[in-house]
Amino acid sequence: MMQSEQARREYLRAMGIDVWVPRDQVDVEPVCTAPVTQTGTGDIGWDELRSAVAACTRCSLHESRTQTVFGVGNPEADWMFIGEAPGAEEDRRGEPFVGRAGKLLDEMLLAIGERRESVFIANILKCRPPNNRDPSREEAASCRPYLERQIELVRPKIILAVGRIAAQQLLQSDAPVGRLRGKVHQLDAAPLVVTYHPAYLLRSPSQKRKAWDDLCLARRIMAGAAG
Ligand code: URA
Repeated sequence: MMQSEQARREYLRAMGIDVWVPRDQVDVEPVCTAPVTQTGTGDIGWDELRSAVAACTRCSLHESRTQTVFGVGNPEADWMFIGEAPGAEEDRRGEPFVGRAGKLLDEMLLAIGERRESVFIANILKCRPPNNRDPSREEAASCRPYLERQIELVRPKIILAVGRIAAQQLLQSDAPVGRLRGKVHQLDAAPLVVTYHPAYLLRSPSQKRKAWDDLCLARRIMAGAAG
């Protein structure tokens, strides 16, 4: 989706960023390759996958969830955004990133000329951890086959890992976001860029500039892939 410079500036202002300074060069650092884990969901399609997630009892989170949060967006999206896990609002509504952080994510999408309907948004976990605690390793491992199948089906041209949990889980790393961002990783067939979680950006608005840099890096990768 093309948009005017004026519109872009407005979205950037909504993100809390006043001026966009484009860079001439893609600052791509050496590729780190994450291990590929087995999907465990075979070659099932969207309908079957959605049903499997809705009926999932692989970990104890099914006991406390209101409903599963499968993911939303374009099933053939170029951009895939992966967050951590549903929060209270997402658990109620069955859609990822619909709370305050989701509104900021929407602004971030608009700033790169995308919308929630044009990208695909999913989470590491499909169920809400009680009291918004971090996902455990076991929960993330139980849920991973669903996400891997989603990635296989969408076949995104780029993946954005949104926040520490998503980045560390996807890259099987303990490094902080500050060390994982700013470079291009590889997850299976797609380049992966790490950025800050919008909930963190709401608490630390001074970091929005860096998040914008991450989005610009992703856009440059996309431009390279397209050209
Ligand atoms: N935070 C996330 O990481 N995902 C959501 O869906 C909502 C908040």
